Formats: sequence, structure tokens, C-alpha cells
Amino acid sequence: MSVSAIVGMQWGDEGKGKIVDALSESVDLVVRCQGGANAGHTVVLGKTVFKLHVVPSGILREGVRSVVGNGVVFDPARLVAEIEGLEAMGIGVEGRLYLSDRAHMVLPYHQVLDGLQESSRGTRKIGTTGRGIGPAYADKAARLGLRAHDLLDEERFLKKLRELLSYGNRRIEVFGGEALDVAAHVEKLRRARGRLAPFVADTVSLLHEAYGAGKDILLEGAQGTQLDIDFGTYPFVTSSNTTGGGFCTGSGLPPSAVDRVHGVFKAFTTRVGEGPFVTEASEEESARLRGTGDQQWDEYGTTTGRPRRCGWCDLVLGRYAARVNGVTNLHITKLDVLSGLATLPLCTGYELDGRESHAVPADIDALSRAKPLYETLPGWSEPLAEIRAFDELPAAARGYVRRIFEEMKMSSGTVSVGPRRDQIVPVPR
Ligand code: IMP
Repeated sequence: MSVSAIVGMQWGDEGKGKIVDALSESVDLVVRCQGGANAGHTVVLGKTVFKLHVVPSGILREGVRSVVGNGVVFDPARLVAEIEGLEAMGIGVEGRLYLSDRAHMVLPYHQVLDGLQESSRGTRKIGTTGRGIGPAYADKAARLGLRAHDLLDEERFLKKLRELLSYGNRRIEVFGGEALDVAAHVEKLRRARGRLAPFVADTVSLLHEAYGAGKDILLEGAQGTQLDIDFGTYPFVTSSNTTGGGFCTGSGLPPSAVDRVHGVFKAFTTRVGEGPFVTEASEEESARLRGTGDQQWDEYGTTTGRPRRCGWCDLVLGRYAARVNGVTNLHITKLDVLSGLATLPLCTGYELDGRESHAVPADIDALSRAKPLYETLPGWSEPLAEIRAFDELPAAARGYVRRIFEEMKMSSGTVSVGPRRDQIVPVPR
């Protein structure tokens, strides 16, 4: 029996979907605890590529039950589209997908406000995914939100919805935006309500019953440590706790239940959206790391298609993420992408205002001034995609991986050498 959590250790897009898929083989339940359709988890099964946004990646494993936890914000129409997309690809969700009755909704005006707020920030734009995530969490904190249990009573739902949509329109008008057609949105959401109501469940009881019965549970994190509302590069963050604590507040399982924390760390660093990025590479190097333009696996946003900013491995961020999340197992992804580079810079510290530092400053301006202190490791030329044993990796690749494990004080984990389920190499102690 175990409860394991999977957390992103950078700015999201670390390849968590693949690790969730790998670890969910023998679990009973996979649970999403925070975020919403800003996330995009890619899982490759044979020739089929699945892009999941709110539904946990565990849905792709037969017999695994999936929970959208209370900490998630879901857009009803988008969730229906995701469910129908899965069904069209032969993945049945009936009786296997549970939507927490405490999860908050993203309403149409949240998405409009997301765009209007971004425009009003001018040069201080966050570069959000435009999915209404920030405004939905703001309404949750302001105690204005609609929750999944509201879907269970159509009359009450539509009444609350009309009131909120009218209130949303007044807020849209404050920003000079165009009011939404309330009647049209009510109609659209009426249909979504009917589709989603059967999935609404008391997931706190469900999870505790499974936990009590000794079932294995996997908590699937979204985004990454540097996008956490408290521990990330604020204000260039998302609006939820993407780190350790978010697993408990977003599921109802207590901290004492979680016994393994799997940290996913890409072999280099990427970020989408604005904000400081100490190890950001030059345009030419960034283009090399991003890949040749394959939208499935190269560095383009799963949700927005935006090209990701790319840079070198930052161990200051790695150590910080290992601490904040209490990582017990480290999974380094996309090592194969680094084949062919003569040398590999590894950032082990920052130079900040003439002094060496190993901490991540809270002050965003200080982080923008920090310069990376690099250690240069030799690269390797061999492709890695077909390697399945650590000892078969080129010596330089083993050295690069060992150095990262050592800096983060980790002894257990894996290395990923391609997008497929089987392209994974255990790292011996
Ligand atoms: P929001 O979550 O849409 O409000 O966006 C806030 C910031 O988080 C922006 O920089 C987004 O690009 C980033 N972000 C949100 N979700 C993800 C994700 O799943 N992967 C990577 N970046 C994300």
C-alpha cells in the first residue's frame, strides 16, 4: 500500500505525464489535485498521442480509477470535450472517472477576464495560458465560486449561473470588454451540466476508503515548483500550489498519508510565458534544445502551442524543488535530446550582485539580475533512444546524470530517453 505524489521541479512541462503513466501501472487510483486546463499532459501509447488537460493520465491504464480532486478548477464545457475526445479514441470513462463535488468551476467570464487582465498589465504581462485559471482561483478565494456539487440540481445551478454571469459581465465592462451573451452561455452550460453530473462524487470519502483498504494511490501534480503561487517566481506563476502541500489540500488526503514524492526534472530547463530564467540559452542554442518543430514532443506548449523558452540545467532550482517538495525519487526526462552537444553547462550556483548564492531569491528583480555559475561537463554523441540499462549509457551521459543526482542528494530514480512508455532507464543506487 502506498500513496505517491508526482511533482514538477521546474516550470512545468517536465514530462510528468509519461512518469505518471509509468508509475500508474499497478495503482488503483490516480488523482489530479490542482490546476486546470492550463496543464497539458502528453502520453504516447504506440502510435497514439494523448494530450490530457484535466482528466488524470491514469485514465489511459485499464482498471485504474481517476479522480479530479477538489483543488482542481474545471471548465465544464472543456471537460465534456475532453471526456468525449477520450471516448472517441476508445477510452471509456464511465465508472472510472470521479469529479470532486468540492472542485471549483472556470466560468466563461473567467477566461475573458484572464485575457483582459493580461492586456491591462502592459509590459508586466504574465503570459498566462488564457484558460481563466487565475480569475477562477481568485473567485474561489473570494468565496464566489460555483462548485461541482452545484451541477447536481439543475434549477439551482442555472439560477446561480445567471447571477454569476451577470456579475462577470459587470467586471468585464470595468476592463472595457464586451459583455457575454448570458442566455447563450447558460444554454451551453446546461448541456455540460447534464453530461458531468454523473461523474460528481464525494472524492474525500472515496480516497479515504481506498486508503483505508490499502489501495495504491498516485497524486498527479500539474505545472511545476517555479510556477507555485507561494514558492515560484511570483508574480510570474500560476494561481495554485503546485508543490507538496497542494497534494493534500487538493485531495483531502493528509500529509501523513504520502510516503513517496517523485520529482520530475527535465535534463535541461524550459519555461513558457514571461518571467526571469537565469540559465536561458542564446536564441541559437534554445532552438537546438527546442527541437525541429515536432509539436508532439518538441518544446512547444501542449495547451497553447507556444514555443517554449529553453536553457541549461539549473541545479539551484533543482535543489530548491527537492527541498520544498521533499522529493524522494528523481526522474530525469529528455536526456536523449542532449545527444550531439560537445559540452553541457550545469548551473550549480548564481552570482548575485558580486556574491555567490545558492538560494532562490523571492525578489523577482534580484532573480533577473542573477548570473549562472556554470560547471562544464563533457557531452556525448550517441543516440540514447534504444538504451534500457544505465550501464549502457555513454560514460558522459552517466556522469551528467550522476552529477545531478549527487547535487540533489538523491539515490533512487530513472532517466527517460524518449517519449514512449518503454523508453525509461532505472538509475541504480
Ligand atoms: P495560468 O496558469 O494560465 O494563469 O498561467 C500562469 C503561468 O503559468 C504562465 O507563465 C503559463 O505559461 C504557466 N503555465 C500554466 N500552466 C502550465 C503548464 O501546464 N505548463 C507550463 N507552464 C504553465
